[in-house]
Amino acid sequence: MGVRRTSFLGCFILAVLGLIISAPILCRGGTTSSFVRKVEKTIDMPMDSDVFSVPPGYNAPQQVHITQGDHVGKAMIVSWVTMDEPGSSTVLYWSNNSKQKNKATGAVTTYRFYNYTSGYIHHCIIKHLKFNTKYYYEVGIGHNPRTFWFVTPPQVGPDVPYTFGLIGDLGQSFDSNRTLTHYELNPIKGQTVLFVGDLSYADNYPNHDNTRWDTWGRFVERSVAYQPWIWTTGNHEIDFAPEIGETKPFKPYTHRYRVPYKSSNSTAPFWYSIKRASAYIIVLSSYSAYGMYTPQYQWLYEELPKVNRSETPWLIVLLHSPWYNSYNYHYMEGETMRVMYEPWFVQYKVDVVFAGHVHAYERSERVSNVAYNIVNGKCTPVRDQSAPIYITIGDGGNIEGLANNMTEPQPEYSAFREPSFGHATLDIKNRTHAYYSWHRNQEGYVVEADKLRLYNRFWHPVDDSTTAKS
Ligand SMILES: [Fe+2]
Repeated sequence: MGVRRTSFLGCFILAVLGLIISAPILCRGGTTSSFVRKVEKTIDMPMDSDVFSVPPGYNAPQQVHITQGDHVGKAMIVSWVTMDEPGSSTVLYWSNNSKQKNKATGAVTTYRFYNYTSGYIHHCIIKHLKFNTKYYYEVGIGHNPRTFWFVTPPQVGPDVPYTFGLIGDLGQSFDSNRTLTHYELNPIKGQTVLFVGDLSYADNYPNHDNTRWDTWGRFVERSVAYQPWIWTTGNHEIDFAPEIGETKPFKPYTHRYRVPYKSSNSTAPFWYSIKRASAYIIVLSSYSAYGMYTPQYQWLYEELPKVNRSETPWLIVLLHSPWYNSYNYHYMEGETMRVMYEPWFVQYKVDVVFAGHVHAYERSERVSNVAYNIVNGKCTPVRDQSAPIYITIGDGGNIEGLANNMTEPQPEYSAFREPSFGHATLDIKNRTHAYYSWHRNQEGYVVEADKLRLYNRFWHPVDDSTTAKS
């Protein structure tokens, strides 16, 4: 009896102790979603899929895509590929209420990658556009022209509403197609996509089969020919393959995709900034040197003080490798960049940082981890209302599949995480408020699986956390 009672008491005490010890740990973190996704293999759409179909006609332009062409949104870079001959690099364009067609002339380029030769890649910048205007544009002049349209953003200003879509790590699988369809059919209508890197995943094919860059260009044309996508480079854009003699990093990407880096005084297309409506967007490169004295470091050092929150209240950063990531994939790969730049993000009150790379969804609370100085031991992230929210949106749906293995318990900084494919929208209302929501592909177009009212860090820096503090 005595032994039994002692062991019973012992167990009871241990259980209570266990509860006391584990309770804060269990309570501290945010939500790990209980949504269970049907496990299916993520496979690329076959080459003869309708989304990859080549437009009919001799030398018809294909892979049409647009991106912002200057710092404020009055220019657009139009790009496309012709396959049979170079053809014309001219874009004809006209505004909604004008019959007069204007002309802009671009240039054509090609590249070789191992045994692949690209088509004729055209880039043409259209300048001096009017704000808030619908323009039609025509490419493929002289052979089989095709016409598209876009709407320019409103003039940059502090209370201009604007809606961004967030997509990352898209690839060209059946899931990628679902993500893009969900974005297109979301009742919250994105006007511009902020793309956080890893476009085609062509490098997963033997010899980085660049025909998969072409299929990707045709797949996403249905969105990116009509609204700009703002490009960030990911590791799948590096295409560094010395084993087949390809030693120039980013070769296919830089030939195919142009960004307006010179208009923000950047010296390379991998880091740059744009203003759009009430947002100031800074794009960084996880795969270019970012240590002290490097060009990217120097550029960001000079860039951040230039942001005028009275003109563009919303300061948004895009990069590929996340700084706060509690999945067991790419764990701490963003750590060295975080150490370099996080103090600046807190100092300049960045509102939100979007990253990709990890093929899942995660949203952090406002935290910083900048107090550590080697000897003081303060190396745990803490709640910080001057810090950005970090969102991993690398869940576009590429061939590599989902990241579904997480560190446990969920760290305190992690507010919500779920391994499902999807996309997000950031709906800026005015200088103080924005509405953010994440949509998983498994549900209807209206369903918001995660949502948040975001308060601007400069104009309305009140606590917008969604989990209790410990
Ligand atoms: Fe990546």
